[in-house]
Amino acid sequence: MCGVVGYIGSKEAAPILIDGLQRLEYRGYDSAGIAVLNGGKIVSDKEMGRLANLEKLLAKAPLAGSCGIGHTRWATHGAPSQLNSHPHFSSDGAIAVVHNGIIENYAELRNELAAKGHRFLSETDTETVPHLIEQELKEGAASPIEAVQRALKKLRGAYALGILFRDAPDTVYCARLGSPLIIGLGEKENFIASDVPAIINRISKAIYLNDGEMAVLRADSVEVCTIEGEAVEPEVKEISFKAEDAEHAGFETFMLKEIHEQPRVLRALLEKHVSADGTIEIGSGLSPDYFRKLRRIMIVSCGTAYHAGMYGKLLLENLTGIAVETDLASEFRYRDPKIDPGTLVIPVSQSGETADTLASIRMAKDWGCKIFSICNVEGSSVVRESDATFFTNCGPEIGVASTKAYTAQQMAFALFALYIAGVRGNLTPEQVKDYLDDLHEVPDAVHYVIQKKEEIRVIGEKHHDGPSSLYLGRKFNFPTALEGALKNKEISYQHAEGYAAGEMKHGPIALISEALPVICICTKTADEVYEKMLSNIKEVEARNGRIIAVATEGDTEIPKLAGDIIYVPEVRDEFTPMVNVVALQLLAYYAARARGTDIDKPRNLAKSVTVE
Ligand code: G6P
Repeated sequence: MCGVVGYIGSKEAAPILIDGLQRLEYRGYDSAGIAVLNGGKIVSDKEMGRLANLEKLLAKAPLAGSCGIGHTRWATHGAPSQLNSHPHFSSDGAIAVVHNGIIENYAELRNELAAKGHRFLSETDTETVPHLIEQELKEGAASPIEAVQRALKKLRGAYALGILFRDAPDTVYCARLGSPLIIGLGEKENFIASDVPAIINRISKAIYLNDGEMAVLRADSVEVCTIEGEAVEPEVKEISFKAEDAEHAGFETFMLKEIHEQPRVLRALLEKHVSADGTIEIGSGLSPDYFRKLRRIMIVSCGTAYHAGMYGKLLLENLTGIAVETDLASEFRYRDPKIDPGTLVIPVSQSGETADTLASIRMAKDWGCKIFSICNVEGSSVVRESDATFFTNCGPEIGVASTKAYTAQQMAFALFALYIAGVRGNLTPEQVKDYLDDLHEVPDAVHYVIQKKEEIRVIGEKHHDGPSSLYLGRKFNFPTALEGALKNKEISYQHAEGYAAGEMKHGPIALISEALPVICICTKTADEVYEKMLSNIKEVEARNGRIIAVATEGDTEIPKLAGDIIYVPEVRDEFTPMVNVVALQLLAYYAARARGTDIDKPRNLAKSVTVE
């Protein structure tokens, strides 16, 4: 959630830290701070609010030094304030710490340290860490590294830490447990960061620290060890995406850029996974025989990825006949889901670092299940803890509201479901080929919807002002309704509810009036769902609701009912959600723009939810 960066080299650290924090601001943005080693002192600046405030401060009084750490915060313990901003310091100011995660036993540690004379300035859990390290030095730790190791053994919870010692010049210490941290390797300079995009413009190789590992970085060396002190030979990985992938590329926001990237992302997935003869390759590492015998699939995820999981369930059940369940990872981990080792568990995650999703994976592994994840970030915790991963390969998604990762997750499920249906014989090779031909039409259909963005903008601006909106869909497009409503509330702050249209009479119908925009997803389908959806729209019309429909080009029924219509091209029923949701992403986008919100960094949200 928070973003951590660090630098050691021969350049000025502060501008590099600020640049890295800018690229990490999607992880949290209620305050920011940096600390730099400067001629035997640690100097620091912190500021409330967006990073720009800190930049202004540094422009007036720059901090010199070529070794430093920085942080952008998403508050957990203590409100956003200057005092609660990181870095936090030891009593003597000789140790500075930035932290992402939660120290669960901080209250206990704080009491113990207070009894030993430590005074705390903030309400944060993090502040215990520099004090604890200081105490370890006082109590005989022979070196900074030993003090860090002794302190870390006393912490419970999750952390990615960047640490500076006044008395250890030109050195950055870092450690990881449960929160992501990477080490970027440069030429006579090294970096730490919560996520690759922070430093992608500076490095092409990185070490992904594992849980329970720490490292000591100097300009020309990186030493990795466990917190027990055992040396580790780290694996150096090439970064697979380019610096431009993490830039705006001329778009007004990352979200708009990412919406536009969807046709390319979807095409690339089809190219990568479907060969010319129609063979689907999913890289599960599991044999066809495994899938023939498979009886149950459990999908776990959070947020937008949960909606992708709902779509995956519908598609997998429909095409393969396997019993599929999907659940919110935060619910799954606290219920008793009666999963046997024969169940295939599919975690879905853009970031690969979502705390609840990771906890669910660990539980499922304890039960002996195979884990086949759908994930966007190579080297992430979800990937490392899975038996195999289907990579969505979207490149970095920086806008907090997920767009391209969602449609890519849907595409992953489509390919996976067709693969299994083929292997199990639910579909003949000819039928699989038919489906694949139709699936190949999706990227162009998505492109077509994006081309209509001006029309969608007008509709978004027309309906942005009410307090609330309702999104209705059925069957494959029930998750689309949920995702459309989620996009709207995330970025425009308009209350929005997604509902299964068939449930409307059981409650939401009471809300309908001429003031309520009702977004009805009613694209043509081969089965009765379209007719049922039309009936629901009529019920809304009869109560003077403001109907905005997402309809198939050429539909002659919807114009009789809806005030505003977003037409989308016809694609096969099962694949309509990938096209329809793009219309809803754009609708939310332009409503948010009309409401003047900060679209890429909506209030209170964070891109990567690494705490429970
Ligand atoms: C946060 C993000 C959402 C995302 C969800 C799950 O809430 O703002 O966009 O869908 O976390 O994240 P994941 O990285 O696991 O997909």
